[in-house]
Amino acid sequence: MHISICFTPQDYLRQNFRDDHIAVVVDVLRASSSIIAAMANGCRQIVPVATLEDAQTRRRDYADALLAGERQAFPIPGFNLGNSPFEYSRTVVADKTIIMTTTNGTVALKAAAEAVNVYIGAFVNAAALCSKLAETKHDLVLLCAGTQGRFSLEDALCTGLIADRLSSNAKLSDTALAARAMYNDFCCGDFVKRIMESSHAAYLSKSGFADDVAFCLKTDIFEIVPEFSDGVITA
Ligand code: MLT
Repeated sequence: MHISICFTPQDYLRQNFRDDHIAVVVDVLRASSSIIAAMANGCRQIVPVATLEDAQTRRRDYADALLAGERQAFPIPGFNLGNSPFEYSRTVVADKTIIMTTTNGTVALKAAAEAVNVYIGAFVNAAALCSKLAETKHDLVLLCAGTQGRFSLEDALCTGLIADRLSSNAKLSDTALAARAMYNDFCCGDFVKRIMESSHAAYLSKSGFADDVAFCLKTDIFEIVPEFSDGVITA
């Protein structure tokens, strides 16, 4: 297996990867983590959409769906859920369809849609994800959602962890080698401390979402690996 990492969706689209690769979309803070929490709590499916208007339009196809997402990290007026993983409890999401729009996470998912499989990854499901990917014969592209076209430290470090865990059985691209080195050498065993210095973690904490940040930086707490296929995320 060959592992590449794209630090933004724009980087991924520019490279025109062949469509027989597997893509893993990583938006640690917070879309990937919230999607994984929702699926672990029995959500039936999540339909990611780019805009608020798309969300309202898609609701016509799913009459009972919950609308979810954020802008500037805050819940969208009139929507049922924001983007905090704590909102996606079993009581709220079990057997539900959720239509979700977030600033970066759902954009990255749409960018990856042509890959042979598109999985959702984060620290919270890293072990389950790596077990699923360990035996694949396909090349792997780890796609960081980033922040509006810019590098995000938390996504890069999560892909570094994934590359590190898969590296005994894989050839790493230069970006994967760099992310792995960032995870191992820059973090020196304490990636949480490094991520707390990042701009999005600081912004979320300042905005009242410090508990979300702490939750999203827990490692290997969910066994579930959601997959995005035909426009819908399922477990
Ligand atoms: C996003 O998709 O941009 C993020 O998940 C933003 C957030 O922290 O809510």
